[in-house]
Amino acid sequence: MLQPVPALSSDNPPDNLQARLQIAVGKALFDKLWVFAPSSTDASDGLGPLYNARSCAGCHQAAANRPVSGSRQSPQPLPKHYLLRLGAQGKDQPDPYLGFQVQGFAYPDLASEGQLRVQDLPEPVPGSDLLRHRRVLEWQPTHSPGPDKTTVRSLRRTPDLSGIGLLALIPEPDLRAQADPEDANGDGISGRINRVPDAIQGRLATGRFGWKAGTASLEEQVLKALHRDIGISSWLFPDADGDCGTRQPLCRNLGNGNSTAQDGFEASRVATDALVRYTRNLPPPATVAKGDRADLFQHTGCAACHRPAYRIPFPDGSLREIQAYTDGLLHDMGPGLSDGLQESGALPSEWRTPPLWGLSRRLDQGKGALLHDGRALTVLESILWHEGEAASSRQRFLTMSRDEQNSLIEFVESL
Ligand code: HEC
Ligand code: HEC
Repeated sequence: MLQPVPALSSDNPPDNLQARLQIAVGKALFDKLWVFAPSSTDASDGLGPLYNARSCAGCHQAAANRPVSGSRQSPQPLPKHYLLRLGAQGKDQPDPYLGFQVQGFAYPDLASEGQLRVQDLPEPVPGSDLLRHRRVLEWQPTHSPGPDKTTVRSLRRTPDLSGIGLLALIPEPDLRAQADPEDANGDGISGRINRVPDAIQGRLATGRFGWKAGTASLEEQVLKALHRDIGISSWLFPDADGDCGTRQPLCRNLGNGNSTAQDGFEASRVATDALVRYTRNLPPPATVAKGDRADLFQHTGCAACHRPAYRIPFPDGSLREIQAYTDGLLHDMGPGLSDGLQESGALPSEWRTPPLWGLSRRLDQGKGALLHDGRALTVLESILWHEGEAASSRQRFLTMSRDEQNSLIEFVESL
């Protein structure tokens, strides 16, 4: 029998006191504002030397509650819940000076890696009278020599983490059954699994997390965030210098917060296990799709990638349905969405289908920051950027009547 997904439970259920306590500790760590070392509390220091935010919530909460986008009038400072990812051309390697991403904050006396500004410029859509906006980035690196000449930049918006632990439980055979890398069925859609190095298991595994499905497990993703975004070392990423590039000696020579009380790192295994468990148990969005035109979502071909539902086997043997609207696969979305960056086997134009569940909560009167870099303010604009494998779906949308288009948008906005 299929049961509804209870509010808080991919651990299914975190019913014993010990599990609930661990989740509460994890929440405190997710919200905690880290401080610079040395400080009076070993358990909270180690921030930086370079960092994007002082807590996980600083980005993930802000992203959930405040869908800010760039200004369409003039360049505006980029809200801190965006990241500028860096990479070498054609290889998944960090910039030797600035690392995997630009950090806008740093230890006192150390320069940050520069401030970012964005502007959204209007762009006509070929074959239609509609407009979409392209996001243009300004970045003045504060450091000299700055990034390598060949370094590629990719702007990323912070995703909503609701139900992330449930997405991790989507069975591998379901993902494989949907994949069609050679487009054998000739529908123009060739979604594929991204096989990535799993840093914990030490082997290749299915990439599931991140905009490019570049990370295999939730634990690795959480510890990577702790390391790169906040500058906190742990058992998997022991370097206390965080994302300080190998050629940046200034931040490599600062003190750090590693302590014996934290197993020799800035965050102990007990702490990171709690953080991972909390993240895994974040409840799925409790929204119910409205509008009677779910059929349009099928007919327009949206459902071919944004697969509505899965049956998830829970650890207690029960099967439950989640309605996440993703196939978890990488798709080539065409040159307009390409970021030029090669990441863990994903090509510059390939993106993992983002789940659409919870979209209604992320939109404020129909507006929010959508797509990987937040360039689309509305569902309509998001659709207009769909090209590559999604080109025929977009074409079907454009040839529908305005009434049908509005009904489809209304349905998507209600998810
Ligand atoms: C500076 C803002 C920022 C901070 C701080 C931050 N994140 Fe994130 N997070 C992001 C962005 C941006 C992504 C998408 C990264 C990508 O795909 O390139 C992300 C992705 C994730 C994902 C994968 C989501 C998905 O849909 O696949 C998880 C899980 C996550 N973060 C957890 C955390 C945890 C736990 C912390 C604290 C240790 C944290 N993050 C701190 C911005 C942030
Ligand atoms: C070929 C697969 C594919 C098809 C078909 C497709 N999408 Fe998408 N969709 C994606 C991918 C991949 C992204 C992420 C692209 C990016 O961020 O650059 C995306 C992003 C979105 C977003 C933004 C979500 C967010 O959280 O930022 C919305 C909304 C959306 N799609 C709706 C639709 C609708 C409506 C349709 C049908 C008209 C559709 N999609 C058809 C793959 C697809």
